[in-house]
Amino acid sequence: MYWKSIERKAVNERIDKALNKNANYHKNDMIGIPGTYLDRKEFYPDASFLKDAPFLRTLIANPNHIGCHTLKKPGSPIFQGTQAIEKELISICAEEVFAAEKDTVDGYVATGGTEANLEAMWIYRNYLKKEYQAELGQIGVLFSEDTHYSITKGCDLLQLNPFMLSVDKSTRQIETNNLQEQLKAAKKQGIKYFIVVLNVSTTMFGSVDDIDPITALLEQEQFIYKVHLDAAFGGFIYPFTNPNSIHNFKNEKISSVSIDGHKMLQTPYGTGVFLIRKGYMQYVTNTYAQYVPGLDYTICGSRSGANAVVIWMLLMNYGSEGWAIKMNELICRTDFLCNKLKALNIEYFRNPHLNIVTIKADQVSSDLAMKFELVADTYESRPMWWKIIVMDHVGYPVLTKFLEELKASLVG
Ligand SMILES: Cc1ncc(COP(=O)(O)O)c(C=O)c1O
Repeated sequence: MYWKSIERKAVNERIDKALNKNANYHKNDMIGIPGTYLDRKEFYPDASFLKDAPFLRTLIANPNHIGCHTLKKPGSPIFQGTQAIEKELISICAEEVFAAEKDTVDGYVATGGTEANLEAMWIYRNYLKKEYQAELGQIGVLFSEDTHYSITKGCDLLQLNPFMLSVDKSTRQIETNNLQEQLKAAKKQGIKYFIVVLNVSTTMFGSVDDIDPITALLEQEQFIYKVHLDAAFGGFIYPFTNPNSIHNFKNEKISSVSIDGHKMLQTPYGTGVFLIRKGYMQYVTNTYAQYVPGLDYTICGSRSGANAVVIWMLLMNYGSEGWAIKMNELICRTDFLCNKLKALNIEYFRNPHLNIVTIKADQVSSDLAMKFELVADTYESRPMWWKIIVMDHVGYPVLTKFLEELKASLVG
């Protein structure tokens, strides 16, 4: 995994070049498209600070990245400058972060993890329908009970049959005996195909689903399946903190990955990344998008090129080495928290490569949990767990303050 960091000045210049390669609503004769720059009273384009703010400059220039720009079919030439930046960031995420071979992965900047997960499910549903003549009633979606709710949302939207698997309550791994039972029941129900969603990591626990035990059973039972990795949370941390990660494109069973920039990468909301091996985007080609050069393949349609630019900027500012240092520093802080919890005999779950610590609800008072804005597993009934995520702003002082108050509450 390697990409170079680039100095801020060079990043700014590169984005200038990209914007200059785009058509410009101020300068060019563009009278056919339903887009323009952002409102000039609200977003004045001549503000002096903009020269050092390439993301805001791009936001105001308002390039539309509709479509998928890693495909051979050329997209709109109007915004080709910033679309090339999107292509570059997709390659970095696929090849450097998720270990794909060069030029083997397509992708786009989605609105977030939800859209990227839905896109994967949509593609596989259509793939199974087209290549195997699968009927909707024959396609199941397999995922653990700790999986993000976007997957049940996808089942609802795409009319797919959800199969939620129980997890072991101490390891948070999918229970293979439950998988076996559910596969049997699925067969009886007429399910022949599965879309499998595995987590890197789960939202609540930071657990990372094992791949092999799941795929082995699916093969033993002769199901046809596709595996999507939901790395919305862990995609920009786990590969950097676990050099032995096998959750990537080197594993031929993995076909697609969702990553969120707007979680660990600290980019603004609206910056998800969807990656999929080449050859699959075609299953969601919208041939009715005739007025869009290159057609459309995405759920969202129009989307701001500024979102691609800001992901690329972050990746360039740090480089792979700087990013690994930053993520491993979060792991050190999380280790500090866990060591102190251990000393206090507090029960919690944590994957050592992630920055999520989930404490059993009976170990911490709800007043304290709420004072420090810990997040509960449920707000609909009595919580079983409270979680802490050691994000960039969660430094040693606030962790120490929490631990001191936790200790005091135990004594009291
Ligand atoms: C594992 C996982 N997947 C998907 C999502 C959904 O991401 P978004 O809110 O960006 O749509 C989240 C959000 O927390 C998540 O943790």
